Amino acid sequence: MKALAARAPGGPETLELVDVDAPAPAPGEILVKVAACGLNPVDYKIRMGYFSEGRRYPAVYGWDVAGVVDRAGEGVTGFAPGDRVFYFAPLGAPGAYAEYHTVAASLAAPMSSALSFAEAAPLPLAGNTAYQALLRRADLKPEETVLIIGAAGGVGSLAVQLAAWRGARVIGVCSTGNMEYVSSLGASEVIDYTARDVNAEVPRLTGGVGVDVAFDLVGGAGFSQAAAALRPHGRLVFLNAFTRDYDKAMAAVNAARLKNLDLHCMIVQPEGGVMRALARLAERGFLKPQVDRVIPLTGVAEAHRRLETMHGRGKIVIDMGLPC
Ligand SMILES: NC(=O)c1ccc[n+]([C@@H]2O[C@H](COP(=O)([O-])OP(=O)(O)OC[C@H]3O[C@@H](n4cnc5c(N)ncnc54)[C@H](OP(=O)(O)O)[C@@H]3O)[C@@H](O)[C@H]2O)c1
Repeated sequence: MKALAARAPGGPETLELVDVDAPAPAPGEILVKVAACGLNPVDYKIRMGYFSEGRRYPAVYGWDVAGVVDRAGEGVTGFAPGDRVFYFAPLGAPGAYAEYHTVAASLAAPMSSALSFAEAAPLPLAGNTAYQALLRRADLKPEETVLIIGAAGGVGSLAVQLAAWRGARVIGVCSTGNMEYVSSLGASEVIDYTARDVNAEVPRLTGGVGVDVAFDLVGGAGFSQAAAALRPHGRLVFLNAFTRDYDKAMAAVNAARLKNLDLHCMIVQPEGGVMRALARLAERGFLKPQVDRVIPLTGVAEAHRRLETMHGRGKIVIDMGLPC
């Protein structure tokens, strides 16, 4: 099969089109013919060598998949050849910039015909992150106010939609050009971090009370802003706090201690149950994955460069050429 593989960690130029043997499904796994693969920032981070202990090279990246079951391994029930599925695969496993991919059947969800492969592929990793952060870790309740820092990104755009579906009041933080976009996803208020001081805007919008939940997708200054925005006993979920400015993050943790905040440092886990919940929400129109562009397998190196800017809007999806 054709795959895009890297012989070693490094820049986007390490990605090479190669011919390799297609994998076979182990017991409990399904072999999937990949129709579309969604790109995530973690793809380029792993390409650079992060989270790569024990990874075998040449390595194939890409863990968000929509496709068709080709074969089911021993003991698999509930999936048969021809079924449309989508999933987020474990980041330690080989990825899916390839024609075929295997995954534990328990991690996949049936894909409704209401979604095309290109619409479904960007949902799993970002959707699992938003769902696990807001509905599990923060246990966001209707009528609560949530601040989402990084609201225009792949995760943030789904987090805004999920929080709005939950019945919460959403305050999104993004740059000027994304304000209308974030409003259109369901944010009640949007703060332009390039023109306004987030630390002053949140008290103004909440009558000095602060928000119940803050979700920081950015890290560094974002983490400090999230901690400062919360009311006493508020809940803060963060993904990247310490990868940007460690000293600032530690100062924010110290300040958070004085407000008795719940801090949830999170790494998303693939979960079949969450996938099925996301599939239902997407089918009913409450969650719409935002697609920036659809590219061929040969366009991935360029797409990684775009992702690395941290200012893309919507997801980039590889189209493997299967009809949807
Ligand atoms: N720990 C985990 O489990 C986990 C899971 C998923 C993702 N992540 C990480 O979370 C981050 C976000 O992921 P993503 O997929 O949403 O990335 P993305 O699609 O690249 O989005 C990045 C967003 O950050 C926004 N941004 C940049 N600087 C900002 C600032 N100072 N204030 C507010 N927004 C800012 C950008 O919006 P503007 O263009 O409007 O500035 C952009 O929309 C990545 O680093 C990713 O690796 C971690």
